[in-house]
Amino acid sequence: MLSKKLDGPRGGQSFDSINKSYEHKQLNNEVRKTCDIFKMLRFLHIQMLTLVFKYGIYNKFQFQLAKLHIFIHCKQDNQVKLLHIESRKSRRRNSELEVLVDCDSDRETLKEVVQLLRKQTSIITMDSPDRFSTPADDLAEVPWFPKKISDLDKSACRVLMYGSDLDADHPGFKDNVYRKRRKYFADLATSYKHGEPIPRVEFTEEEVKTWGVVFRELNKLYPTHACREHLNNLPLLTQYCGYREDNIPQLEDVSNFLRERTGFTIRPVAGYLSPRDFLAGLAFRVFHCTQYVRHSSDPLYTPEPDTCHELLGHVPLLAEPSFAQFSQELGLASLGASDDAVQKLATCYFFTVEFGLCKQEGSLRAYGAGLLSSISELKHSLSGSAKIMPFEPNVTCKQECLITTFQDVYFVSESFEEAKFRMREFAKTVQRPFSLRYNPYTQSVCVLKNVPSINDVVEELRHELDIVGDALCRLSAHLGV
Ligand SMILES: [Fe+2]
Repeated sequence: MLSKKLDGPRGGQSFDSINKSYEHKQLNNEVRKTCDIFKMLRFLHIQMLTLVFKYGIYNKFQFQLAKLHIFIHCKQDNQVKLLHIESRKSRRRNSELEVLVDCDSDRETLKEVVQLLRKQTSIITMDSPDRFSTPADDLAEVPWFPKKISDLDKSACRVLMYGSDLDADHPGFKDNVYRKRRKYFADLATSYKHGEPIPRVEFTEEEVKTWGVVFRELNKLYPTHACREHLNNLPLLTQYCGYREDNIPQLEDVSNFLRERTGFTIRPVAGYLSPRDFLAGLAFRVFHCTQYVRHSSDPLYTPEPDTCHELLGHVPLLAEPSFAQFSQELGLASLGASDDAVQKLATCYFFTVEFGLCKQEGSLRAYGAGLLSSISELKHSLSGSAKIMPFEPNVTCKQECLITTFQDVYFVSESFEEAKFRMREFAKTVQRPFSLRYNPYTQSVCVLKNVPSINDVVEELRHELDIVGDALCRLSAHLGV
């Protein structure tokens, strides 16, 4: 659950109206981006390969010959670019000269050059490009962030508000039985550690009744208001997780279901987390979920997200691969980002994951969890009287998030793919001295701050591209083209 500052009690949309021209445009973009990436890789490779070698020479004539040799070789096929060359008296022996050569080349060509030079020189040393990395000073200012999924144990307990305490205007403030119950849920969440099963809760009759009212009323609206992805996944949740009017699903069952669908898992939380801590969970495909039920005095109102909001609003979308990817990318962009950048990302989260709309088959639908768990705001957002604007992160991140009233404006995306594309472009503007890559095998993030770490990714990409190439060849053979 994201901090109250950015998380309302409701949310919803769907992303699927991808037309042909959009697909072609996307495909072209992907091809262009792939070409750009390989150009960048080549540039990186070349720039990093600075050769420095000592060149033992016994007389000036030999030195001139060697210099010429290097020059000629460097010019050959333009494979090696000579950036700088200088000679100095050897520190090893007076009779020797050292020649320092700084050049650009790919590894293979450089090997050939070195082999050639070895025939004429006594010593060659080479500075490995591997020594190049982000300066330590640049990393010193980066805020702490979890590097592996179990690091979330450190941040999940940093609840900002609510937890087991309630504000004076909370419907359950004067209800001692409810407050005691909230403490029970807060204790469950704060003692939870990564890898443990989420404790099963025996919900009271009153809690089930409250859930039942919310479930029944929202389900009346979903067919005409919820996005297709939400509508598709809800029956699966009924089948596998016990989503019924007379049963509150267990978070453990929901977490296991999501793991199989998209790799997302649920982690219980006692109350609001800061935007930084909440978004960090998304980076690891972990969704922080409340387990308590709103106060029974008004089942259709809650001043804070509760398990009805999480289960009915968020979970059906987290079971959608495209949406899951969108959510994780938002989280990854936040790791190590400045406070200002995190705030902007959290605002984008608020107006998409919580209050987002999408176009499907010519009409607007809700995909934000804040809308899909609020009867009144869900109706309002699609009533025709609400202000709707296209989702554009640069604009959306400046919009004020309203907590106690309906939003002034809702942002609409054509599809999750489009939203992802826009968020990716926006994420590139986040000031950070490194890039990050999520490793699903170790459930950790790899900081790409030097050449070896980037080379590792390149190797993995080559392998992935081999698989794609093989699949295309087999397909082509099958089609006879
Ligand atoms: Fe939420």
